[in-house]
Amino acid sequence: MSKKDNQQTNTSWGGRFSEQTDAFVEAFTASVSFDQRMYRQDIAGSRAHANMLNKVGVLNDDDLSAILQGLDTIEKEIEAGKFDWSIAREDVHMNIEARLTEMIGDAGKRLHTGRSRNDQVATDIRLYLREHIVLVISELKRLQQGLLLLAEKEADTIMPGFTHLQVAQPVTFGHHMLAWFEMLQRDASRFADCSTRMNVCPLGAAALAGTSYPIDREFTAKALGFSAPAANSLDAVSDRDFAIEFCAAAALLMTHLSRMSEELVIWSSAQFSFINLPDRFCTGSSIMPQKKNPDVPELVRGKTGRVTGNLVSLLTLMKSQPLAYNKDNQEDKEPLFDTLDTVLGSLRAFADMVPAIECQHANMYAAAKQGFSTATDLADYLVRKGLPFRDAHEVVGKAVAMALEKNVDLSGLSLAELQSFSKLIEAEVTEVLTLEGSVASRNHVGGTAPEQVRKAVITAKEKL
Ligand code: ARG
Repeated sequence: MSKKDNQQTNTSWGGRFSEQTDAFVEAFTASVSFDQRMYRQDIAGSRAHANMLNKVGVLNDDDLSAILQGLDTIEKEIEAGKFDWSIAREDVHMNIEARLTEMIGDAGKRLHTGRSRNDQVATDIRLYLREHIVLVISELKRLQQGLLLLAEKEADTIMPGFTHLQVAQPVTFGHHMLAWFEMLQRDASRFADCSTRMNVCPLGAAALAGTSYPIDREFTAKALGFSAPAANSLDAVSDRDFAIEFCAAAALLMTHLSRMSEELVIWSSAQFSFINLPDRFCTGSSIMPQKKNPDVPELVRGKTGRVTGNLVSLLTLMKSQPLAYNKDNQEDKEPLFDTLDTVLGSLRAFADMVPAIECQHANMYAAAKQGFSTATDLADYLVRKGLPFRDAHEVVGKAVAMALEKNVDLSGLSLAELQSFSKLIEAEVTEVLTLEGSVASRNHVGGTAPEQVRKAVITAKEKL
């Protein structure tokens, strides 16, 4: 087919082509189906670029106002669902530019002066991600607030603390919630950090080497709320490390949420019955009428896999790419967007659910009494009385063996029985053998004592 015959050849780059793009290749290489969600950022970038071109005298006032009006109209068309997205126009950038030219003629063709889709897309993704990181952090904070509410409410609630999923020492439920809070606090700071680092403006890098027009990169950077223009044009258009960094922070966050999920699933099982998840966060079984399944935590736990997968996709995508832009990078968007959607959805579900968790206090308390959770307290008591810790460990081990034989917990042994292992044991030992005594004694910064939990909640609220 001659070039003249071919009406379909892409008008943005079709000049040097003598035959039409293969129909399958056209669809295969198009990204418009998934990059159209960056239309607002693309339009914002175009506005800033056009204003800058006008300021430096490359675009006259009439062209600028036609472009700005045209972009406004396009934005409204898209928002009203009236924009005709076309695969033949490949991506969000060319769809918008072609529509602009359709509407305003030659002025529309002047918009791309001193610009390339390479710096355009690198700018759009940064703008998009920056905006969405704000949402991620705000949902994270909402979840953290829920955790603090619960921690405050359950500061005195005693439950078993576990190591190896075996009862280890008594802790307070509030303390456990504060552990989750801390994990999320680090996640939030990773997102904030990532947002700051990526907030530089690629515009002006053009295809890879910059442009011969007298552009003002400070102007566009400022207009779009970036802290500065990206320092190197080759780097600006090619690296997607900022998206990788976001996905890494997201994978860690999801890993944390999956750990919390696992605990919620275990705690809400009939065997544990530590908590009750309200019905609205659970579903039933189509065959077993008695079932109430903890779907929300299970699903969040499951979704961790795709987010970690997205991180690996992006790392592998970037690996070995020579400078500067390569079409490979078009593959950055789906994993990134999927990560954003998944993280926002998971956080929303968790933030709604967490404040509604109900503790089954008696069950937690009974479980903490099992498994000799105050054995360490007895050893510490003996150390305070002058026995070296290793000897105390031995004494308590023997007491545990006797209690096991008699099928009681340590506080179920009589004073005389305890004294048969060490004469240092006296009547007041009962205080350290109770769960309340045990948690109250861990009264230092970062400890599980109810008093410390209340203090930590206050400090945490200040941090938020
Ligand atoms: N759709 C492309 C992407 O997502 C835009 C940049 C295309 N640049 C190019 N030289 N083909 O990366």
